[in-house]
Order: sequence, then C-alpha cells, then structure tokens
Amino acid sequence: MKLLELYAKLKTDLQVIERELESVVSSNHELLSETSLHLLKAGGKRLRPAFVLLAGKFGDYRLDRLKRIAVPLELIHMASLVHDDVIDNAETRRGKLTVKSKWDNRIAMYTGDYIYAKALMIVTELDNPEIHRVLSRAILQMSIGEMEQIRDFFNTSQSIRNYMRRIRRKTALLIAVSCQLGAIAADSDRQHALRLYRFGYNVGMAFQIRDDVLDICGTEKQIGKPPGSDITQGNITLPVLLALQDPKIGEELREEIASIRDLGSSADITRTLKMIRNSDGIARSEQLADRYINKAIAALEGLPDLTAKQHLMDIARFVAKRNF
Ligand code: IPE
Ligand code: IPE
Ligand code: MG
Ligand code: MG
Repeated sequence: MKLLELYAKLKTDLQVIERELESVVSSNHELLSETSLHLLKAGGKRLRPAFVLLAGKFGDYRLDRLKRIAVPLELIHMASLVHDDVIDNAETRRGKLTVKSKWDNRIAMYTGDYIYAKALMIVTELDNPEIHRVLSRAILQMSIGEMEQIRDFFNTSQSIRNYMRRIRRKTALLIAVSCQLGAIAADSDRQHALRLYRFGYNVGMAFQIRDDVLDICGTEKQIGKPPGSDITQGNITLPVLLALQDPKIGEELREEIASIRDLGSSADITRTLKMIRNSDGIARSEQLADRYINKAIAALEGLPDLTAKQHLMDIARFVAKRNF
C-alpha cells in the first residue's frame, strides 16, 4: 500500500496539522519564516504527526489537544534536520537545497533554534508536566545521538552496539515519544501508552536502518540527495559495518573509507558503494529491520482492535520497505 493511501483516513486531520505548521513558522521574522518554510514546503512524510493522531485514537480523540503534540513533534523533527544538515554538511534534503547550503551555517543554526522554540511554545499550551518532561528528554537524547555521530565519524572500528545506541537516540526515541504522547494527550490507558511507546521505538529503529540502507541502495530521485552521502559525510552505518565484517572485502573497504575521509568531498565513492551493495551487509540490515518491525507489531497486541491498530501495522510494514 502507498503511504498516501495509509494516510487517507487521517487526511482531514493531517491537513489541519499542515495548516498549523505553516502558520506557526510564518510569523515574527521574515528571514526565519522564509528559511523554515523552505524546508516545510519541501514536503516530507509527516510520519510523526501521523503517529500522534493514530495513537490518540486509543483514548479520547480530540484534535484540538492532539495537534498541540503533533505540530511540535514535526517541528522538533524539522529543527533536528536543519541542524543535522549542518553537522553532516549536506547539500540537499527532500530534493531541495538544505538551509545551510541555500543560506549558510549560521542561519541554519538559528533556524533550527527558532523552530525548536516554536515547538515549545505550542506544547506548553498543554498543561501537563509529564508531556513536557517526556519531550525534553527526547530532545536531550537526540542531541547526544548527534554528538555521538560526530564522535564516530569515519570510525570503521565502532561496534554494531554503538550504532544501535546512536540510532536509538537520534531517531527511534522521537518516534516512540510521538506514539506515547498521542496516547497520553488523549488520556488513554497507561498500558496503551506504554505499548504504543514500544511500537514506536521498534518502528523507529527499523526506520533508521531502512534510511541507512536507502542511502546506499536508493537513487537520488528516491532519497532526495546523492546516494552514499552518509559515507562521504563520515557516517558509518549498519550496512557498512556489516560489510566490514566480510573477510573477503573487509580490509579493502576499510581502506576505501579512509581514503574518502582524506579526499573529502572530491572523493569518488562509486566503487565503495558497489562493494557495499554487493556485500551481504544489505540483506543482513534488511533482516534486522524486519525483526524490529515484527517486534513493533507484537507490541500492539493487547491494544483494542480499532481501525487505528491496523493502520499502525500498515505504516510499520511500509516503513521497512519504503523507497523514499
Ligand atoms: C529523516 O527522517 C531523518 C531520519 C530520522 C532518518 P524522515 O525520513 O522522517 O524525514 P522526512 O520528514 O520524511 O523528510
Ligand atoms: C537522522 O540522521 C537525523 C536526525 C535524526 C536528526 P541522518 O543523518 O541519517 O538523516 P538524513 O539521512 O540526513 O535524513
Ligand atoms: Mg544527515
Ligand atoms: Mg541518513
């Protein structure tokens, strides 16, 4: 099923979220609005708001409350992308120039901060300290995850466990929290919120693994940036770490990556990409992503059989197979 079809049931509510997002970032300051709208209008899957809304179906579904979670979650995600593109020195995102390359790093820093601040302004309209606590903890973990990414740039000796911890922080927690907070904002049962958190966490892990596979196997049109950007930027991901374990190519791949580091952006990564694509690192990464998806689906057992449950399962399956 296509993502759009999966979203069909949420269409009107997601449109409300979309309008809110636009109006929230288009105020205060001309340049900050312009830079934020540039990223917002470039599209994106709006996965986190969709999860908030679906999780909200397991309680008292009130859009006026849920949007105060869904909008900030997408904003926090967006802010982290603007900052991430500075860290990764990325030229394009969502098929468009990144804020840092259309403007510059300084402007990207403050655009990210601006978007974060907007997220806080909206979420604090909800008078529930637990929500604020959960959200600030997630942002904190994301910053740690991104710092770990910098620390581990070009480190081909890092462990798989290290990679897992990093993606848990930088990606999975925010998706987990999207599901959890949707449930909490809808005053759903505690157990439901916990199950939804586990669902989101496992989907999030699979989501980032798939993202990392796509970076190597996808086309520029599919992923909105040149394939192999992770390697050029020094981000050593799961398929690469698994390929490095292959005794036939491991050493050669390690040397290739070292020379990419030394050459910088002028490096030709065609050969390196081919090596990884031909290794079993891809299939093994996909298997691991599938395991996370199965765990995510298992976490939903025990939730009432609402249509939303089926939708969550469909999105989870989509995540593991997505091509964009
Ligand atoms: C990109 O997230 C960064 C990761 C966490 C992998 P998304 O793939 O959700 O980005 P958009 O919002 O759809 O562009
Ligand atoms: C995800 O990491 C970014 C955040 C969670 C902030 P990536 O660096 O893999 O994301 P892309 O590939 O740039 O979207
Ligand atoms: Mg990046
Ligand atoms: Mg990536």
